[in-house]
Amino acid sequence: MSQSAASHREGATVTDAAPEGIDPRIPHVPRVLDYLLGGTANFECDRQAAAHAFAGWPGETGGVEGVKVDIRHARGALGRIVRHLVKDCGVRQFLDIASGLPTMDNVHLAARSAAPDAKVVYVDNDPLVVAHARHLLAEDTDGGVSFLQGDFHDPQDVLARASRTLDFSQPVALVLFGMLHFVEDFAEGARLLAAYLDAMTPGSYVAVSHFAKDDEDTEMNATLDALDKQLGEAVVRRTRAEVARFFDGMDTVEPGVVETQNWRPADTSGPAPLPMWVGVARKR
Ligand SMILES: C[S@@+](CC[C@H](N)C(=O)[O-])C[C@H]1O[C@@H](n2cnc3c(N)ncnc32)[C@H](O)[C@@H]1O
Repeated sequence: MSQSAASHREGATVTDAAPEGIDPRIPHVPRVLDYLLGGTANFECDRQAAAHAFAGWPGETGGVEGVKVDIRHARGALGRIVRHLVKDCGVRQFLDIASGLPTMDNVHLAARSAAPDAKVVYVDNDPLVVAHARHLLAEDTDGGVSFLQGDFHDPQDVLARASRTLDFSQPVALVLFGMLHFVEDFAEGARLLAAYLDAMTPGSYVAVSHFAKDDEDTEMNATLDALDKQLGEAVVRRTRAEVARFFDGMDTVEPGVVETQNWRPADTSGPAPLPMWVGVARKR
């Protein structure tokens, strides 16, 4: 086990070594996410925060165990999508914006399990995520994986710095998992997406995950409203049709915009997660 993994093992105490600039006594959402995914890049305070924050998580399973199911479904879909893009579409370059920590089958792990030469640029706007991520990636020394502090709302800056690692004359997959639902105005989200796609060659892809709204199911909408309050985050939930509109002018990859567990699943058993759409489209 690497030193970094050992210092973040499950059950580690707050006195364990933390990467420089990280206070292991203050919980941090991306580390909570890592914990919920079953990772080791988290501290006792993150695990306690998860138990406290998600005690009332809705859904079939519910509570902190329920949120683990939901989040693992979303990460499972990400892994399937990345492997599909590498193995079946020949993509070797990924730009993952709003990535969170690069653990638990996040993009470089999924891509490089299929193609060890795959290049990945992660981008997140949270300096704590960036500091922790660079510590975790310290052993990936071939230069093919980098982590930038950057903002989705500034495509020119992100693209300019990503181009030090990625060759935009070749296909790139833009990964926007859990990003577009932070952009309240649809037209602004579409404009930003177009700015990234303009820099990408035909045959490039975009992969999206997005909190879902169900027009038909008011009970589910009430559950999701409760969830918004619980998370204290202003996320915009959109219908399947609204999320599909982000792909206007592109070729949507089968099976289209679907719930996480339905994107080319290997196994359809297990409880259904809360609705979150995922979809992939190819630039013409
Ligand atoms: C819920 S996490 C998603 C992590 C990962 N993409 C996933 O789907 O599991 C959201 C991440 O988005 C980052 N984020 C939020 N707004 C952003 C922005 N405008 N630009 C870049 N990153 C952003 C946050 O710092 C956080 O790490």
